[in-house]
Amino acid sequence: MSNANRRSFLKNTSLAALGAAVLPHASQAKTKNEKDFIGCTATTQDLYGEGPFYTENPPELTDGVLAESTEEGVKLIISGRVMKLDCSEFVEGAVVDIWHADDNGDYDNQGYNLRGKVTTNSEGFYLFETIKPGKYLNGTQFRPSHIHFKITPPDSPTLTTQLYFSGDEDIPDDAAASLNSGVYNATGRIIPLFDDGNEGLEGVWDIVLDSSGANGMTDIHLDKGVIYKTHPNPFTDKLTISYGVFKEARASLLVFNMKGEQVANLEEKVLSAKKYESTWRPEAGLTDGHYFVCLKINDLQVHYLKVQKMSGYGY
Ligand SMILES: [Fe+2]
Repeated sequence: MSNANRRSFLKNTSLAALGAAVLPHASQAKTKNEKDFIGCTATTQDLYGEGPFYTENPPELTDGVLAESTEEGVKLIISGRVMKLDCSEFVEGAVVDIWHADDNGDYDNQGYNLRGKVTTNSEGFYLFETIKPGKYLNGTQFRPSHIHFKITPPDSPTLTTQLYFSGDEDIPDDAAASLNSGVYNATGRIIPLFDDGNEGLEGVWDIVLDSSGANGMTDIHLDKGVIYKTHPNPFTDKLTISYGVFKEARASLLVFNMKGEQVANLEEKVLSAKKYESTWRPEAGLTDGHYFVCLKINDLQVHYLKVQKMSGYGY
């Protein structure tokens, strides 16, 4: 498939999926049955470890831009949250070191193109903007498109792993990406990509650290409530947020910027169990960019969706 075809294929595929809420990986496959929203699984290592193309001491990306605008390829934004195994404690100051191949499947082994690190903010969020990695041959077999990660929290060891994308035809034949059990189980590291409304793709991946070494399951707290949808996305001056509370509880809807600063508190009251809708009209002058809308129930943040504010966009 040529790059142009691949691009339009991806675009059509992700447009079809646009109606679904973007959920963190721990629950991504289960958008229909709320009872399935339970389970917070530790992020696994990749069978191939860091692979042969890691370069020490990559640059820090203060703005999250890994690929310059001139970089060839399909634009891709990856964001998520680094959290501890209970999925309610977020890790500030975790260094997320990322590297990947360019659109042709080549690594920059001389310099630091498509290599860099970002640090999680006070709410545990990270984000970087890049291009979708191309594929390269591993023997006679193409490796699926992937991004390498080394995640180093302030107080526990580095987790080295790789992220893959749903629907990649090379996943089933890849020794690492096809593993669906055991310590190198890759299923929680294959994420869907969605159209970002700005001619690119977007994916959300939460990293769950298990410093104890156990590969356990705990309650991800999505049995308490969920954000179903934010729309439109991107938005300009008005964002509508649909969410649900599953038991009567004190709920609030908070919005954080990329620094982890709270920029809005849209609701804060006791809600009975049903679906709700809130509207966020950011004050004039709020900077364009990425924001995280978080649902908080009884002082526990139970779910979030990433949104993008873009001046002059649509509606
Ligand atoms: Fe690689």
